[in-house]
Order: sequence, then structure tokens, then C-alpha cells
Amino acid sequence: MEEIEKVQALKEKIISLIENASNVNELKTVQETHLSKKSELNSMMSLIRNLNNEDKILFGQAMNNARNEINTKYNEKLNYLNELLIKEKLEKESIDITLPGMNYQLGGINPFYQIQDEIMDIFVSMGYEIVEGPDVETDYYNFERMNIPANHPAREMQDSFYINPTTLLRTHTSPAQAHAMDKANGKPLRIVCPGKCFRRDDDDVTHSHQFGQVEGLVVDKNINLGNLKATLELVLRKMFGEKREVRFRGSYFPFTEPSVEVDISCMECKGKGCPTCKGTGYIEILGAGMVHPNVLKMAGYDPDVYSGFAFGIGIERVAMLRYGIDDIRRIYTGDVRFIKQFKRN
Ligand code: DAH
Repeated sequence: MEEIEKVQALKEKIISLIENASNVNELKTVQETHLSKKSELNSMMSLIRNLNNEDKILFGQAMNNARNEINTKYNEKLNYLNELLIKEKLEKESIDITLPGMNYQLGGINPFYQIQDEIMDIFVSMGYEIVEGPDVETDYYNFERMNIPANHPAREMQDSFYINPTTLLRTHTSPAQAHAMDKANGKPLRIVCPGKCFRRDDDDVTHSHQFGQVEGLVVDKNINLGNLKATLELVLRKMFGEKREVRFRGSYFPFTEPSVEVDISCMECKGKGCPTCKGTGYIEILGAGMVHPNVLKMAGYDPDVYSGFAFGIGIERVAMLRYGIDDIRRIYTGDVRFIKQFKRN
């Protein structure tokens, strides 16, 4: 049938135009001129008028088939061209992952804070609470509350930075004991307090005008010297190794009675005697004792009912022993060559 052949021919033409379109714009032009309402293909529908009923059916089918075929081809081509666009874009925007990355400089943690953190972790694991006390103290808390009265020789032992006649930079963390007890209001307590201390010392390899301590305090009923010994033995072995001998020597502090100084067997020579322990085989590590009844009384505890133990550890001293640091000043003078050696990976 002539009419159907016309439709076929037009269909072939449109399909070849679709196939030849090399981009989305060209394809859109084909759509506008050949697939719109006013297109040649659509106007061919008028040919149907001249046909008999049987041919009308055949012609109608031919028109539908032609439209379907063209639409399928058109959609296929549109998808193909869109994918091509995406592919080109991805290729253009691709990242070269073979380029070397940027190196970040990781800082080191000052050994002072590594040791302080370690001590805190040990005590927290034993149920102690961490508290803080002020760096600027009153004379009353720094001395009086620690059983060091006005004319006591210990006040000279600890030459202090006074801000005014009644205010000073604390010379030890012990006043944190008094603050903690005041706050506990007669109840049992178990605390550690890390912090800075200040003394008018001339700086040298082992002395510094500013240093860190950790104060510890336990107050409860039936606390005795055995509890103090067991606690400190456990902590010191955790910090310096299970094989360390721990030795308690009688000593004197105004705020404890009895008072002890605690030594550990030298980790360098294992107790034989060497320059690190000055030939004694032992290294002094901290001061401690049973809380003096006067200190308990001033905080509102009845010393006949409550007792406690306390201790004070110098942080720099522990850091120096642990890392073999020969001069305390290296810890706070901020030389990067020093700090770099304490990087943690
Ligand atoms: N406060 C003492 C000092 O600065 C250290 C100390 C010793 C603290 C014995 C204590 C203690 O709690 O019981 O040298």
C-alpha cells in the first residue's frame, strides 16, 4: 500500500536522523521537527481518509508501529547521550590518587602530663575522686589548716611567694586536703588532687620554683597505717614495676602522725647501689602518713571516730626517674627537641 510505504520511508528517515545525532542538542532538534504535533509524521494521519475500512486498520497499525519504533530509538539514544555526558564529566573531574598526601605533624605529650594522667588513672581505678584546689591560697589553708602554726619552723622550710600578708601561691597541694574535708562535711572521703606548687627555690637540675604534686587523702572509720602501706605499695609497683621493693622510713611532717617517707628499690641497679640512687640502692619517692588529729579536728571530724592517711607525690621527680631526664628544667622550658622524644604513636 502506497500510504504505508510513505510512512515506512519517513520512519526510516527519522530513525537515521536520530542515529546520526551526535549530542543532546541535535537530538532535541530532531524531536522538535519530526516528533511534534505539527510534524510531517503526524500530518500523515490525514491519508487515512482515502482508505477503505480494511486498509484503515492496516494503515493505523503501521502508523502506531512507526511511532513506537521511533520513540524507542529516541529514548535509547537520549539515554546513551546522557550517559556519555556523565562519563565525560567524571573523567574531567577525576582525582589523581597517586599524588603524595600531606603529612601532619603529630605533637608529643609533655612527660609531666603523661605521668600525671597515669597516676590519676591508677587512683580512679581504685575508686578515688579527682578534686582540684586553688593555686592562690590563703595562709590559713596552706599552713594553719595543715597544722603548721605561725611560728612553726616548717614555714621557713617552705619559703613562699606571698601576694599579700595573708595570700600566697600554694607551697604544696596539701591544703587541698582541708578544702576536700570541708566540702565532705563530716563524711568519709577518698580523693586525689593534682596541681601546681610554688616555692622560692633557686632553679637547678633538681629544683624548680614551680612544680607539680599529687595529693592523696582517705578519711573513714578504721583507717590504719596498714591501709596506707598496702595502697602505696600497690600504686608504686604499678608505676615502677612489680619487682620494686617498697620501703617505709619514719619521718616528720606537721600534718601527719606518724609520718613516713617512702622509697623504692633503684630501678637502675636493682638495689645494688649506683649513681642514680647515690649508692644507697633506694630512691625516695614520696611523703605520707596518718592524718594528724588536729587536721581532722579543724575539718570537723572527731579523731576518736575517724582516721585517715595522706600522701604527696612530686610529679617531675617521677617523670625524671621514669624517663631518665637529667635536668628538671627540660620539662618546662619548651624545647621541641625534648618534647619530640615523647611522641605517642
Ligand atoms: N606536702 C608535703 C610536701 O610538700 C608532701 C606530703 C608529705 C604530703 C606527707 C602529704 C603527706 O599528704 O602526708 O613536701
